[in-house]
Formats: sequence, C-alpha cells, structure tokens
Amino acid sequence: MLPLDSELRRALAERIRYYNELGIYDFYRRESQLSESPTCPRISQSEQREEMTPRRSAVAVSIPPDADESGFNTSSARLEYGTNDPAQALRIIREDLGDCTRCVLHKQGRKQIVFGVGNPRAELMFIGEAPGADEDQQGEPFVGRAGQLLNNMIKAMGLRREDVYIANIIKCRPPGNRTPEREECETCSPFLMRQIAAIKPKVIVALGAVAAKTLLAINAPMSDLRGRWYEFKPAGTRSNDPSWSSARLAVTYHPAFLLRDPRQKKEAWKDLQMVMKDLGLTAPAKTPE
Ligand code: URA
Repeated sequence: MLPLDSELRRALAERIRYYNELGIYDFYRRESQLSESPTCPRISQSEQREEMTPRRSAVAVSIPPDADESGFNTSSARLEYGTNDPAQALRIIREDLGDCTRCVLHKQGRKQIVFGVGNPRAELMFIGEAPGADEDQQGEPFVGRAGQLLNNMIKAMGLRREDVYIANIIKCRPPGNRTPEREECETCSPFLMRQIAAIKPKVIVALGAVAAKTLLAINAPMSDLRGRWYEFKPAGTRSNDPSWSSARLAVTYHPAFLLRDPRQKKEAWKDLQMVMKDLGLTAPAKTPE
C-alpha cells in the first residue's frame, strides 16, 4: 500500500464516504486512470503521479485510522465493515452522520440527532418511526411515554432495555411529530441500514406501520403485516461476517398506538411471543400492563 499524504488521504476519505452513503463499498485502484478522472479534483498533479506508479493488481483502498496533521478526522471515513467490533462500527457510522444536514429536518426545529441506543451486539432490535419531543430533548429513542411502554414490553419478554438495540427510521424529530416524508426516510435510512449491518441482530421488530412499511417497502394494513416473519437484508450494506446476511423481521403495533388503544396490547403480546419463541426467550411471570 502506498503511503498517503494528508491532502490525498482527505480527498480519498471524502470520496469513500460519499460512495459508502450510496451503498458502494468495494473500491479498486486502476493503473494510471486517476490523472484523467474528472471526479477527483482535490488530488494534485504530484499526487496523481504517485498514483500512476504502475501496480499490476487491483487493491482495495483503505484509509489509515489515525487523524492527520490537518486535524481532519480520518476515522470517520474508515469503513465500518473493516472492524469486527460492532461498538466501533457504530461509532464510525455516528461520525459519518455528523451534525447531519442532509434533509430539511435539520432546520425544522430538531434539537439533536437521535442515533440509537442499546447493546451493539443485541440479538433483538426494535425500530420505531421518529423521535418525539422527549427523544429530541434527551437524544435517546423511546424515552417518553411510548418508551415507558416499550420498556415494559421488553421486560415482559424477559429482557432489559440494555440487552436490545433501539433505533428509529429517521433520526430527527419531524415538526409537530408529523409522519416522516418519504424523502426524509430515504435520506436517513442508509444510516439505519448500516447500524443493522453492524449489529447483525437475529430479529428486528418493526414498531408500527411507518417502520414496517418503510423497512419492508410494502404498503399494506397492519392486520396483514403482523403475525408472520419476513427476511430482512439491510439494503446497500455488506456484511463482514459470513454467518450473517439477514435478520428475521416481525411487525407489531407502535407503543404510542397501544397507549391510545390499550385493547390491542393483547395482540401486540402475541407478536412478542412469536419473537420470544424464535429467540428462545422465556416470559417472566408478569405480562405487559
Ligand atoms: N416514537 C417513535 O417512533 N420513536 C421514538 O423514539 C419515540 C416515539
């Protein structure tokens, strides 16, 4: 591997991050092509000459992990699939997200990004819709009233909140808690897909119609979506673990909906029991309130 000076490293880091966000992860260096490339304007002539040094085989590009003298933090551009540590992978994804301004929500009153919380090695992941006011305030998903109910649901499954991983389809609060727009979901979901690929859960529970329809790309009523398993592969990601390529996904009611219509808790409990059976979990004596 050729040593990279700071400017070239910065240019490569930016380009790799850009392609990662498009879901492209494999890169190969071609002989003497860089000098003609119109898409790499930050690479100087001298750097191009170095790149043109004949090298017969295609090589995967990797960015050295340490920050360079310019202060540019190259660690955010490291490819998370290069690590086997899911916590480290999540940190890289969080760094890539940065102080995100990719969709309109950053200028519509969000206080902070709500990335996700929980065990980076969780077997079970819950995915909701979007942060509400409490989550926006605290920077953590499901901490309000709906979060209290979700905690009870998790407990009823014989788990603790810190055993699972909790995230949302989008990471910023929509104004007035409106339903996320398609464009917001599409802009944000690559980061969620990368989180899923990093955590490699056995099971994902989609909480509510927005999460279910977005993840499954199906437009169907909840009554049709619930009560069965789906195979879920996080789009645009690759796994560095040959033993994991997809999770099983189940759909249940959103806790906020259950707060509005508590009669449906019985139905949600059936969904959770299906998940528990799959994960070999045993219910403690108490069921959710
Ligand atoms: N509702 C959601 O969908 N997500 C949260 O984080 C909180 C409420």
